[in-house]
This record gives sequence, C-alpha cells and structure tokens, in this order.
Amino acid sequence: MCGIVGYVGPRDAAPILIQGLRDLEYRGYDSAGIAVMPNTGDEIAIRKREGKIANLEAAVRGGVPLQGGTGIGHTRWATHGRPSDTNAHPHHSCGGDVVVIHNGIVENYAELKAELKAAGHTFASETDTETIAHLVEQQVTEGLTLSEALRHTTARLRGSHAILALNRKEPGVIAGARIGNAGGIVVGFGEGESFLASDLAAVIAHTRDVAFLRDGEFVTVTASGVDCFDQDGRTITPERRVVPLDPVSALKGQYRHFMLKEIMEQPVALSDTIGSLIVVDPPELQLMALGAAAARLKDTKRVVLLGMGTSLHAAMIGRRYFELFAGIPAEVDNASEFRYREPVLDAETLVVTVSQSGETVDVLEAMAIAREAGSAQVTICNVEGAQTTRVADGAVYTRAGMERGVASTKTLLTSIVALYCLALATGKARGHISPQDLAGRIRDLVILPEAVASVLADADVYEQMAPALARFNDFLFLGRGLAYPVAMEGALKLKEISYIHAEGYAAGEMKHGPIALIDREFPTVAIATRHALRSKMVSNIEQVQARGGEVLAIVTEGDTEIPGLVRYTVSIPDVPELLEPIVATVPLQCLSYQIALQRGCDVDQPRNLAKTVTVE
Ligand code: F6R
Repeated sequence: MCGIVGYVGPRDAAPILIQGLRDLEYRGYDSAGIAVMPNTGDEIAIRKREGKIANLEAAVRGGVPLQGGTGIGHTRWATHGRPSDTNAHPHHSCGGDVVVIHNGIVENYAELKAELKAAGHTFASETDTETIAHLVEQQVTEGLTLSEALRHTTARLRGSHAILALNRKEPGVIAGARIGNAGGIVVGFGEGESFLASDLAAVIAHTRDVAFLRDGEFVTVTASGVDCFDQDGRTITPERRVVPLDPVSALKGQYRHFMLKEIMEQPVALSDTIGSLIVVDPPELQLMALGAAAARLKDTKRVVLLGMGTSLHAAMIGRRYFELFAGIPAEVDNASEFRYREPVLDAETLVVTVSQSGETVDVLEAMAIAREAGSAQVTICNVEGAQTTRVADGAVYTRAGMERGVASTKTLLTSIVALYCLALATGKARGHISPQDLAGRIRDLVILPEAVASVLADADVYEQMAPALARFNDFLFLGRGLAYPVAMEGALKLKEISYIHAEGYAAGEMKHGPIALIDREFPTVAIATRHALRSKMVSNIEQVQARGGEVLAIVTEGDTEIPGLVRYTVSIPDVPELLEPIVATVPLQCLSYQIALQRGCDVDQPRNLAKTVTVE
C-alpha cells in the first residue's frame, strides 16, 4: 500500500515524480505529495494535497516552480491519521532539513513520539511516519550521513517499512531502506540518473535495468551510482536484472477504464500465459521458473494453497486440481489467518501461494512460516522478480501484463491456468496422472482464449441489464463445486467496485441461513452451468423465486430450461468442467463493471481500496 518514488539526475525531478505517482496511484489515493531538493543545497520544497494526484498536480502547476534534480514522491493509503494535506507525505523534521516518505506502519510510534516531544521536537501531522523524519534529523545533527542515520533510525522502528529520505545538507542523494514486508523498493539504473520506486510500474518507462532491495537492505542513490548496504553498513552488491515488462500494457488506450481494458485483454492474457506454460505438439508442460521446487514435487504428500481476496478464490479452485491430478490432500487457507495459527507443515508439504503482485504482506508472512518449516514453496505471480518469487523455491508466472485496475480480473483467470499447470506437473512428478490424461488436460487449455473471447463478444448484454440491476442494494451469489469460488469472486467484484452489499455462498448453504434474506429487493446470481451441479442449482433457483427473489442465471449455451425460469440469463460456452470457472467468471466481471458505471462509481480506484496490500 502507498506508492513511493524517487529520482536523482540531470532532469527536473518534479514531472518525473508526478508521472511516477500516476503509475503507482493504484497503490493508494488518499493523498499525494512530492519533495524536490534544489542542486544548490537550498531548502527542500514540499507540495502535498489530500485526494488524487490530479490535486497535487494542480498545486504544483499553480505554485512557485519546483526546480531541482533530486526528489521523492508518495501516494498514500491512510493508516495513521485521516487523509488530509497535513497528513500527506512527504514529512519533514522540525528544522526542515530531513524529509521522508514511508510505506508501512511504525508500530511503536506512540512511544517514539512521546520521547521525541520530550526532547523538544514538535510534530505537524498525526502520522506515525513523521517520527522517522525527527529520528533521522537527530542522527544527522550528531554528524551521521543520511544513509547512516537511516540505518540507525530503522533499528529503532517496530514493524515493516519502505522508506526514502532526503537531507538538505546532502544535495543529490536519496537514501532508502526496506525492512520487512511492508513493500518493496525497486532501484532503476539509468544513464547518468537513478530511480527508486515501490514497484516496476514507476520505473519501467525509464529503464529496464533494475534491482529489488531485499528485507534489511539499504540503498543510497546519486545520479552517478547506487550503493547498497546491510543493516551493519557493510556494502552489498545488488542483484541487477533486466525486466521484460511491456509498458504498453499499462496504458489505458481506447478504453474508458483500466478494468474494462483488462477484462477485454483476457483472451490475450490467457493465450500468452498458456503459450508460456505448455507446448501443444506433442502436449507437454514447460514450467520454466520452477527452480529448486521442480525436484521436490515428486515427494509432495500434501498441498497447502494460500492467497488473499481474488487470489484466494483462485487458490480455492486450485485445490480441486491438486486433489484430482496429483491425488494428494490439498487445503486452502486465507494467508492472514494461516500466519496467526500454528499451521502443521513439513518438508513433504508443498505450499503454493497465489499473489498477482507478489507483494501482499500476509502472503509474504505466511511464506516465511513455510520456509521455517522446510516446506517446498511455489508461488503463482504476475510480476517477474516480485517479493514472493524471491522467497519461494520456484514460481509459475502468469503472463497477463501489468494490471492497473484495483479490481483483479485478468490476473485471476491466468492464475487459475497457472495452478492447473502446476497441479498437472505435480501429478506427473508423482506418477499419479497417466500420460494420456495429462496430454488431454494440456490440450483442453487451448480452447480457453476463444471461449472467453466469445463471452466478451456479448458484452452489450450487461450494459442492457445494468440499469435494472443497479437499483438493488444487496445481492446473493450462489454456486456449487468449482462455481462456489466463482460466486465468491462475483460477490467480491460487485462489492468492491459498486459498493453494493453482496454475499458469495456455496448454494448448499442457502437453506442454512441466507435464504432468510431473500425478498423482492434481494436478487440472486446463480451459476447454474452444465458442470456446476446444475440440477441442484435449479432447486436453489426455484426456492429463491418462490420467495419473490429475482434471479440472474449463468447457464451453458444450449440450456433451454433455465432461461424459461428466471428473469435474466447469460450463456457461456460449454468447456471442460475443470476450466469452466475461468469462463464463468467473465460475465460476473462485466456485470459488476456495468453496474458500477450505472451507480457512478470510480471503477479503477474504488474508495478505501489499494491494489497492493502491504500493511496489515
Ligand atoms: C480484488 C483484489 C484483491 C486482491 C488481493 C490479493 O479484486 O484485487 O482482493 O486479489 O488483495 O492481491 P495479490 O494477488 O496481489 O496478492
């Protein structure tokens, strides 16, 4: 959460920082700010505004021009202190010489603040971050360099942090620290200039030559170079890599919203992902990034799948694949619950995490537990080099391209494909799946892009339904088997972008409570496709309608019965059962999108949310 960006070089920092913040706005949009340090050693200038980056831009345009080639910027998702101009980052020390931006939570900020106040420091904001500026200032006043002061300061902070700092007395220098899993710091190596950012989105337009700081690493960047250190100040060599990410996929292009663009990109995202994970003739898997995990698949006796939000729904679908293809017990858990239990893990357990960003704090903490237990780990991720991929023994990458809409769409579909392939690979390594079955399951994947494209070809249907459906304030989503996580995903999409209350339930649960909610004002979306225990779903539909509830049914093309029963129907093509969730999710995404538009919601940046959740 929160996006941070830094630039040092011969160009004016301000426009580069603002563009970088635009690229990171999906991480938080409660407020935004930049600090620019003149090359002359004059005062560091700060501009910050509550609300979206457009407000900051207006403030920068309307004020005294910000000149200087060194600066830092921040887009905030508020934790301590409400969104306001004052609480926006950057924060400065009392003297104004030290300026910091921060992603994370200073868990002991109250005691630090009391100590600093007692020592005469005055605070301008309600944030925990401001304590960092004051602590760094104390150290530089005692003669330490900015980089040393940051190391000493972080030793006093509890929690996880990504921090960038400036010191007026050190023009042309930015110091950074990454402690724990609050968020990454990417260092971008340019020609005579250097970049820092929370993630690649803000760096990729300038350079593909990057390094990711690891937990406990510090960085000092100038225009001419980058130095990395450990907590004790020992120099370390950052692991540089050239990233292949395509910046074009981050542009909205002809679409009104990133979410719509990303929904429409799903056939391509699927075909790129499938093409990277299999060869068709002869059918074979090619999971190139499995690394050390490849050799451990054959000894796997149990699988634990972990994720959050939409990625958890992918994991729920993945569980079935492992049980079926590998013939081993598979469990699925919410990473934030898992990390606070005493989970039973061992070396024969394969832990599979799903995280499109690879930055989600609860997933990373769960992975640390799995590593401690000696379990093999594979992560499903959409960002090459992201944190989860560096902790896991191996990765299965989705090739969805960058996802900018806060609501995940294309990364869900491609994550399900990745799980399917990983489960097949596990089944093959364990000798559980026959070569014929394996070949058939691989071939099945090939039809997916076309099937999803055919659902998207009917996108007008949702536009027509949306006005009538957008008036409801509650929805029930029901599914059985693999359609249960699809129902949960449908409910999640609707609530996050249209702020409508929605419940996703296993349809068998309906009579155990939720049915009490049903009336004319509480419609139901029923996933009643051929493979989703259709006849049982028909009973659910009838029971809902008997209580006056309206039903929208997702059915398989050719179904002539259900459309006659319900008010609204959407048909999807008939695809193999195990792949049906991929196709059945698409109408629910389109429906949520259209309902959110009808209700005038900000689809790409829904209130209170951020794309990457790096704080608890
Ligand atoms: C919902 C959504 C979130 C994410 C969740 C996990 O549309 O996007 O629920 O799925 O925050 O994020 P990742 O996959 O990056 O770990």
